[in-house]
Amino acid sequence: MHRKLVVGNWKMNGNLHQLGEIAAIAKAARKAAGVDVALCPPFTLIAPAVARSNGLAIGAQDVHAAEEGAHTGSVSAAMLKEAHARLVIVGHSERRAENHETDADVRAKADTALRHGLQAIVCVGESETDRAARDHVAVVTGQLKGSLPEDAHEGELVVAYEPIWAIGTGNVATPDDVAEMHAAIRAALVERFGERGGRIRILYGGSVKADNAAAIFAVEDVDGALVGGASLTAAQFVPIIQAAAG
Ligand code: PGA
Repeated sequence: MHRKLVVGNWKMNGNLHQLGEIAAIAKAARKAAGVDVALCPPFTLIAPAVARSNGLAIGAQDVHAAEEGAHTGSVSAAMLKEAHARLVIVGHSERRAENHETDADVRAKADTALRHGLQAIVCVGESETDRAARDHVAVVTGQLKGSLPEDAHEGELVVAYEPIWAIGTGNVATPDDVAEMHAAIRAALVERFGERGGRIRILYGGSVKADNAAAIFAVEDVDGALVGGASLTAAQFVPIIQAAAG
């Protein structure tokens, strides 16, 4: 059993008026002993969120692999560090789909993040078609092979399993589905990183809500959650944090 990590992903949501939610989440996170909490708002809110975070880890939802240069619209790891971000999500399925990010792109981003001292959350997950074809485990382990950084220790790297069909749909994976995939991811991490792979945290993501969080956290090898919609308000997110605290 690892100390659980609950990460909120605000996606392209949030404005300055919602900083009060971050302050409320931070307050609850401080009180919930035994669980790590982080929140990833849009780039523009990182610095103001840090100012209201009361120690809550604030992160980004993407980073460019390059150090600097002619990459219009992108943000570098050094910029994130300057804004006091502590972590970054890489390879979210929405970016893989909308921005055509490949496994190699995701790996390059993870390598850059780690080089700059940012914790990297590498996302993987199969589509509905992959699952229907019973290819889901092969697809996800293949993504891991291509997307994981060169080397990493357990504090720096986190893997998030997010079945695409469960994201934003209300269709949460069953505990058996989650157990099967998390066991396969654990085995792949141990194969890749040896003993350290046993200590890298594996999060589940996809329609995690207050009413299903405890059942998901009870599954073997689930070390926390990546939460989208239900992280936007303290009212919805705090019960998930509390469920992870046990
Ligand atoms: P969801 O999103 O909780 O809204 O399903 C999860 C994610 O995409 O990280």
